[in-house]
Amino acid sequence: MKIIVYNKKNSELWTSAVRDAFPDADVRHWAKEACHDWLADYAVIWQPPAEFFQQQTQLKVVFNQGVGVDSLVDLESLPADLPVLKLRGVGMEEYMSDYVIYGLLHFYRDFDYYSQQQLDSNWQPHKISKKSEWTVGILGLGVIGKAVAKAVSDSGFPVIGWSRTEKQIDGVKAVSGDEGLDHLLKHSRVLVNLLPSTPSTQKLLNQKTLEKLPEGSVLINGGRGDVIEVEALQNLLETGHIRGAMLDVFEVEPLDNKHPLWQNSRVIVTPHVAAPTPIERAMEQIVADVALIEQGEMPPAIDKSLGY
Ligand code: NAP
Ligand code: GLV
Repeated sequence: MKIIVYNKKNSELWTSAVRDAFPDADVRHWAKEACHDWLADYAVIWQPPAEFFQQQTQLKVVFNQGVGVDSLVDLESLPADLPVLKLRGVGMEEYMSDYVIYGLLHFYRDFDYYSQQQLDSNWQPHKISKKSEWTVGILGLGVIGKAVAKAVSDSGFPVIGWSRTEKQIDGVKAVSGDEGLDHLLKHSRVLVNLLPSTPSTQKLLNQKTLEKLPEGSVLINGGRGDVIEVEALQNLLETGHIRGAMLDVFEVEPLDNKHPLWQNSRVIVTPHVAAPTPIERAMEQIVADVALIEQGEMPPAIDKSLGY
């Protein structure tokens, strides 16, 4: 079995993880010239360049080293009939739950106010409000969104969740469609975005939709940056309609060091670290998937027409 790996930043880490997981396979890291006539059966990749698929023409299946496939499906060279498998959970759902709960508690317990007050040496306690008054709206109820919804609900907050197809999840008011989105926006004191970037989700959170949130609400974005129109968010932060935000993902990463979001005291910026891929567990899933494929069964692949 031949496996080609590509990860621009972490080539050695991923190549050795794939070699350890498939000790009998011939595993190589892709390089434009070096792999000229060496054609693999499987690819384990993250954000490859367009030439990757022009050169690797014998692939049976592509494994994505993360969940988001936005940069992959954007490649014209990706063959339409080549199955792409994204990671399903593998512990990222737990990392993301921790990230969201941290952001939620930060605002719910007024730590945004206290960090400002500390700058002024101002000892001013605030009354703790009821969790029942802090409905959390979660956009995206996939493997990660569902786990986050459960963690937030288990912490005692009311949860509304929105997805493309209808869902039933204990402790979550699950909605879908335009009406469902409208309902969620109007009732969420905390809005959590866990949607992928697709043609239907890009700029979904704009001036018109964000204005539907109740006055003084909070935004947490762990999904993808381009789901939010940043100028609208900045306007609404300025007016106080949005009290604060915790943002992990941005339309252009790394976030430009001159971007005003860095200096906005109402915003917490993290450098796309909410839920990094746990490589060992990812490789366990990929090994199990390859075993199924070799037996003639195909695990769930992404729907390229939907973009996720
Ligand atoms: P997933 O299993 O693919 O779930 C995606 C969810 O979004 C599904 O519930 C899907 O609805 C919903 N959705 C997609 N398009 C929609 C639309 N047009 N309208 C309404 N709902 C829509 O993905 P996941 O594992 O939950 O991960 C979600 C996203 O998190 C990833 O795509 C990635 O962008 C991001 N992520 C970020 C980090 C980080 O470190 N910041 C790490 C991992 C992942 P259905 O259920 O009806 O299909
Ligand atoms: C990270 O953002 C991922 O999509 O896995």
